[in-house]
Amino acid sequence: MDLNSVQDLKDVLRPDFFHGYATAATQIEGAWNKDGKGPSIWDTFGHTPGKIADGSTADDAVRAYDFYRSDIALMKTYGVNAYRFSLSWTRIIPLGGRNDPVNETGIKFYSDLIDELLRNNITPFITLFHWDTPQALEDRYGGMLNQEEYTPDFVRYARVCFERFGDRVKHWITYNEPGIYTTLGYAEGVHAPGRSSFRERSEEGDSSTEPFVVAHTQILSHAYAVRAYREEFQERQRGTIGITLHGNWSEPWDEEDERDREAAQRALEFEIGWFADPIYKSGDYPASMRKQLGERLPRFTEEEKKLVLGSSEFYGMNHYTTFFMKHRDAEPDINDNKGNVEVRDENKHGVPRGEETDTQWLRAAPGGFRKLLNWIYQRYQMPIYVTENGTTAKGETAPTAEVLNDEFRIRFFEGYVGNALARAVKEDGVDVRSYFAWTLTDNWEWAAGYADRFGCTFIDYESEEKTRYPKQSAYYLDKLFKHLIKDE
Ligand code: BGC
Repeated sequence: MDLNSVQDLKDVLRPDFFHGYATAATQIEGAWNKDGKGPSIWDTFGHTPGKIADGSTADDAVRAYDFYRSDIALMKTYGVNAYRFSLSWTRIIPLGGRNDPVNETGIKFYSDLIDELLRNNITPFITLFHWDTPQALEDRYGGMLNQEEYTPDFVRYARVCFERFGDRVKHWITYNEPGIYTTLGYAEGVHAPGRSSFRERSEEGDSSTEPFVVAHTQILSHAYAVRAYREEFQERQRGTIGITLHGNWSEPWDEEDERDREAAQRALEFEIGWFADPIYKSGDYPASMRKQLGERLPRFTEEEKKLVLGSSEFYGMNHYTTFFMKHRDAEPDINDNKGNVEVRDENKHGVPRGEETDTQWLRAAPGGFRKLLNWIYQRYQMPIYVTENGTTAKGETAPTAEVLNDEFRIRFFEGYVGNALARAVKEDGVDVRSYFAWTLTDNWEWAAGYADRFGCTFIDYESEEKTRYPKQSAYYLDKLFKHLIKDE
C-alpha cells in the first residue's frame, strides 16, 4: 500500500475536493416493499424468472435501509468527506405520478440519512434517478416512451425532493447514466424494463427507435427539472445541479488507419455526445448520429434546444473502461446505437485493452481514463465531478485475509485515481472536483446479481445482518486522498 508511483502528486487536488463512495437505492437498500414503498421496474424485472444471472432479487440487497447509520460510521473510518446516493422515487411517491400521494415514511428515511451524514461532516450528493422508474408509471403510459406524460411526473418528484431536502442538500444529480438505462433497457433488453427487438429476450420493443425516444425524454425531463430548481429553489437553497453520464474510452483498433480513428471518435459521439452535446455543446445531437439515424433520432424544437443547452452546472462523469474500435465497411445495422463500429478487446497488434477483472466488460485501463478526462474537458469545457469509478476483482468469494487484502483493486485505484485523474489535473490542467469510488459495499449488480462484487467492503450475503468486512482498498483510498488533496 505504498504511494511510490504517485509521490510527485502531493497536494495536486484542490482543498475542497470531494471524495467518497457512490451507491444506488435499488442496489443497496432492500426493504423493497416496506414502509409504503411502491414497486419499481427493477422490482418487477428482478422478480421475473430468467432475467437475473444468479436468480436473485434486490428484495433485501445489503439492507442499507436498516443499517444506514452503521454504514455512515464505517464510511467515516474510510476518511470520506462526501457520499453520493440515489433516492428511490417509489419510496417517496409510491405510484410516482404528479397527483399521487407522497409517502412521509419514505421522506423521513432520506431526511434522517441526510442528517446523519451532515452530523458526520459528510457532504450528501443526491441522484434523483438511478434507473428505478415507478412500475405504476410504466403501466399507466409506458414510462419514458411517453415524454408528455412522463416529464411532469418526473419534475413533480424532483420538486418534492428539492422542497423536502434542499435546505440541507446542495449537490443534485438528475439522472444517472441515461445512456445505459436506454441501451440496456430498450435496445439490448437485458436491463429493466427489458424491451428489445430481439424476440428471444422480449415480446415487445423496437431497438431501432425506442432507445432514441427514451434518451430524448431523459434529456428533456432533466432540463425541465433543472429549470424548476433554478426558478423556484436555487436562489434560496444555493445548491448546484447537473447530470451524470457514463462513458468508456474508445481507442482505434489500428491507429494508422484513418477509418479506425474516425470510428473511435464516432463511438465517443454516439456514447457520450448523444447526451453531452445537447446539454453542454450545441443544444442538439452530434451530426454523426443524425447522419446515421436520420428521422429515427427525435428533434428538439428551438425552444427545447435553449432549455437543454446549459442545463447542467458540472459534468458528472462515470467511467470504468476502454474498448478498441474498428470501422465497419457494411451499412449500419438498423438496431445499431454505437456508430457502426466493431468493438474489440485487442488492437491490431494483439495488445489487450486492459487487465481482466471479475466482470466481462470491465478491464483495467487507467490510461484511457486520463485520455477521456482530457477529451471531455476539451470538448465541453466544464468542471468535472467524477461520480463513479471502480472495479470487481477475481476470486472474491469469501472474506478471507487474502480477499480482504484486495491488491488488485488497490492497484486499480493507484492507476485510475493517482496516475490518471491526479495527473490529468496536474499535468493536463483538467478541472476535476470530485471522485466517488464505486462502491462502498458489495451489492446487487443489477442483472449480474450478487456475484459481481464492486465493494471496498465485502458483504457476507449468507448472514442475516449482511455482515460488512472492510477491504484494504478502502484504507488505501483514504491514504491516497490525504496525499493528493492540498490542506486548506
Ligand atoms: C452504474 C452502477 C453499476 C456500475 C457497475 C454503473 O454503470 O451506475 O449502478 O453498478 O456501473 O456496473
